[in-house]
Amino acid sequence: MTIQIKPVAGRIGAQLDGIKLGGDISEQAFEFINEALLKYKVLFFRDQHLDDAGHEAFSRRFGNQVPHPTVRSAEQSTAILHLDAKETRANSWHTDVTFVANYPKISILRGVVIPPYGGDTVWANTATAYADLPEPLKLLADGLRALHTNLYDYAAPRNTDESGLKRYREQFTAEVYETEHPLVRVHPESGERSLLLGHFVKQIQGVSSNDSKQLIRLFHDRITHVDNTVRWRWQEGDVVIWDNRATQHIAINDYGDAQRIVRRTTIDGDVPFGVDGRLSQALKPTPETRSPQTEADKKHLAA
Ligand SMILES: [Fe+2]
Repeated sequence: MTIQIKPVAGRIGAQLDGIKLGGDISEQAFEFINEALLKYKVLFFRDQHLDDAGHEAFSRRFGNQVPHPTVRSAEQSTAILHLDAKETRANSWHTDVTFVANYPKISILRGVVIPPYGGDTVWANTATAYADLPEPLKLLADGLRALHTNLYDYAAPRNTDESGLKRYREQFTAEVYETEHPLVRVHPESGERSLLLGHFVKQIQGVSSNDSKQLIRLFHDRITHVDNTVRWRWQEGDVVIWDNRATQHIAINDYGDAQRIVRRTTIDGDVPFGVDGRLSQALKPTPETRSPQTEADKKHLAA
């Protein structure tokens, strides 16, 4: 096996060459990728050109695939999220699906239609963001918990199609989720501590909304500082894998009306725990508030 690793930036991100991804990669290759993922947090693979079946088969090597909690999966797939820039642009910093307790541990994204220029994605390392905090701020962060929801503060991105955006947004919030997470998550495999924030955060628990805003800004700025990021220029056929437990990402919205389509799978994650061992807690939906419509949709998906 001759997989080559080339770091792309100093603190996060590496390109892996010399491997063709799929469900049939060897155990040795899988171990190699998983170890690299824990170290570099985001891995880039050029020229893979996977179809949906290949994408899903490769994803399943990492664990159980989970469909998005509210957005319907792509046709003829069990768990592929189709992301078309006409409907949605992930142009604010986030970790995927943190409004649920056991949010995905890994996301696997492939470039299907890529604009001729622009539309790069940037990832940030939330573990180095924590490690570089001065000691008093680490102590402060260690004790905080934050409320995450899919009804997050949201502004319509430029160049989305109004009706497409509305449709996507309605699906996205069809069921309201709220989860309380520790601000500092301990990684279940590496033991590393990382800051858990992003655009689904609504409030730091137990403080005023003004203090909450300032605290979020204080820690968030450490995560997204350019020194702490890696930027990827997509090509069609690329596959990117990230450790969703130790990163945030943003898709840059600088390609006007050009087409941009990516497809994503996500792998079932653990319920996070903080420095004190306390677990995240799902607050909504409760059995009483759960929408029967969404349940029916899920059964339809599972069928
Ligand atoms: Fe995302």
